[in-house]
Amino acid sequence: MIDRASSPTPSTAPTTPAVGSDKLWGGRFDGPTNAFVEEFTASVQFDRRLYAHDIQGSIAHATMLAAVGVLTSDERDTIVSGLEAIRADIDAGRFTWSVQLEDVHMNVESALTARIGEVGKKLHTARSRNDQVATDIRLWLRDEIDGLTGRLDRLLHALVDLAEREADTVLPGFTHLQAAQPVSFGHHLLAWFEMLLRDRERLQDCRKRTDALPLGAGALAGTTFPIDRALTARLLGFARVCENSLDAVADRDFAIEFTACASLMMVHFSRMAEELVLWSSQQFGFIELADAFCTGSSMMPQKKNPDVPELVRGKSGRVIGHLIALLTLMKSQPLAYNKDNQEDKEPLFDTVDTLSGCLRAFGDLIPTLEVRHARMRDAARAGFTTATDFADYLVRLGIPFRDAHAVVGAAVRIAVERECELKDLTLTELQALDARIDEQVFASLDVDAALAARDHRGGTAPIQVRAACAAARARIGAR
Ligand code: ARG
Repeated sequence: MIDRASSPTPSTAPTTPAVGSDKLWGGRFDGPTNAFVEEFTASVQFDRRLYAHDIQGSIAHATMLAAVGVLTSDERDTIVSGLEAIRADIDAGRFTWSVQLEDVHMNVESALTARIGEVGKKLHTARSRNDQVATDIRLWLRDEIDGLTGRLDRLLHALVDLAEREADTVLPGFTHLQAAQPVSFGHHLLAWFEMLLRDRERLQDCRKRTDALPLGAGALAGTTFPIDRALTARLLGFARVCENSLDAVADRDFAIEFTACASLMMVHFSRMAEELVLWSSQQFGFIELADAFCTGSSMMPQKKNPDVPELVRGKSGRVIGHLIALLTLMKSQPLAYNKDNQEDKEPLFDTVDTLSGCLRAFGDLIPTLEVRHARMRDAARAGFTTATDFADYLVRLGIPFRDAHAVVGAAVRIAVERECELKDLTLTELQALDARIDEQVFASLDVDAALAARDHRGGTAPIQVRAACAAARARIGAR
């Protein structure tokens, strides 16, 4: 819970307790903080989410301070067990957060001193909240990236499983949302897989730059104590230390980069969502979404709305918004730390939560997709989708492609006038367009033949789709 009992509402009493300031940083202050300002500048309402990583960082810091002789080993042990007890209290919901104590860092530190006494006040030696918070966010984000990657892998596997099952399923492929050429539905699903696999790579790449230790930077210039940053980094599992103290506390580019990766992923999800919405409409009728992922209408009894994909599509907007917020937050800050940076957390947290929710929603939904094979196949046959195959057949008879294109165009014009498909034209009608055309032409108009003929790496032939599925599994790694 958050204790606001002693924090009056903004418009009333301007102060917290009487003389001077009771803040951890209150030494140079004569007067108390305005109560609204206290609330306005606090971050504990949201940054308490970082508590486990804050405590993890403090334990490593205290351990390092003892290793270099700044703390005795008894002091270290007292501090470490105090921090562990506080973590257990917070885990169990037994901790009272205070807005007066501003943020997660000072809430934990005050609780530590309250619990273990004077020695608690030594923890903040050779440290500032500036390098502390930068460390907390990096630790937290690194864990979140690992969690998100796990969810993404589950979705990637679900896509490959479905793609393999649907390798032979014929779907009309579109360009300009006009029927273009038939493709394997599995092939389409593997296109989604490729998009998301690149997102996975981007996430891993961003993780590398997140994986560096700011602690030791102090407020901005470093510290006068003989710290061992490599040890702290090792204790926290960081791959390396931030090389410049000013940069360590000032930049949040790793968070921006993460949000950029998340935005791209959300754009991909949004495109997938859009297709799911279209395909599940009466007009397309290619798929049926499971009831568990849809809702009804309060007025129209017949409705079954694709809410989950629609929400995923809609949520892309907030993540892209967070990216813009973080870029804008950073762009005019002079080095080094500025309080502006406190505003990094809510967009970052919401980005993680939104992405995580969407990954879960799609990871659950994809395996339940019901595919309406006959509808897909009928749609793939309509709209002269094998016209290119007809032209390719003419090329094999020795006709230059540009001329073949014109011949097929003329055939399509006749079919449009007669309101029939190319296969419904007679051989005589076709031979009137080019005498070299023979019976074989009809084989080239078949949608399954059209799929099978694109038999090369990256092509839509079912045999290639199956090979791509096997390769895809190897690329993601074990489940
Ligand atoms: N709550 C602050 C933040 O999120 C912690 C760092 C505060 N540092 C300071 N010099 N006021 O950025």
